Amino acid sequence: MSEPVSSLTVVRDVGSLRRRVKAWRAANRSIALVPTMGALHAGHLALVERAKVLADEVVVSIFVNPAQFGPDEDLAAYPRREAEDWALLAAADVDLLYMPDAAVMYPDQFQTEVHVTQVSQGLCGAHRPGHFDGVATIVAKLLLQALPDFAVFGEKDFQQLVVIQRLVADLDIPVDIVGLPTVREANGLALSSRNVYLSDSERTIAPVLYREISAVATDIASGSDIVARCAEAAEALLKAGFDAVEYIEARDAATLTPLVTHGVSARVLAAVTLGKARLIDNVAVP
Ligand code: PAF
Repeated sequence: MSEPVSSLTVVRDVGSLRRRVKAWRAANRSIALVPTMGALHAGHLALVERAKVLADEVVVSIFVNPAQFGPDEDLAAYPRREAEDWALLAAADVDLLYMPDAAVMYPDQFQTEVHVTQVSQGLCGAHRPGHFDGVATIVAKLLLQALPDFAVFGEKDFQQLVVIQRLVADLDIPVDIVGLPTVREANGLALSSRNVYLSDSERTIAPVLYREISAVATDIASGSDIVARCAEAAEALLKAGFDAVEYIEARDAATLTPLVTHGVSARVLAAVTLGKARLIDNVAVP
């Protein structure tokens, strides 16, 4: 069953998704998938725009995946804005919206988990136990359900992107994973569905995260001691008003192993808390 919303068709079960994909395949159409958890913003729309350039047909999925939230995390509060999301996707000329519910994705007797080992460890993996197992499992399912040629993800969740690249390579899933630069507000704050948790006063503090990790990246490129510079930045973030710094680290961009020497492609990644919000961000070391 499918519900047409202006030009956008919405399907909610795997059979309907597969029938649509099969018809596109029969017509030699290429397909790009943009997996999301909804509460769409300009960052998601940038992924959609890229997907439209990459492929003939674009599928966006919206599923707030319970398996990637810890017991004390914000699953219940996570913003859900179905009507607004549908309108944005229709305006963006998306072909198909796939919106399964939890019973479709995790039916009775579901008992399989995808676990990507090394790159899921440390950083967010250390602070959100099981998070990347939930992400890897749902992304593997979405890729196998939609069988796209391309799947597009934002670099804001950089560790997630590396986990997904590893997953696809290890399981020989025939899809090109495409990462897109983070979309930011004019003040540098990375767009995130969770920014709705920020109060007006916290919104003045939040952009300091991007400024600080950018300064760390520049200083590391100029030869600063990596560990000392990250520790100094953690202090500066606390002084700026963040409640806690979960981590600020420089890592090899491909393997996510801690950066010990200069000269490899590197990334500075950080996670902080500010009021009800947990913010993550990362930048490339120039
Ligand atoms: O980045 C997200 O929105 C989610 O982690 C994803 C990739 C859609 C999996 O639920």
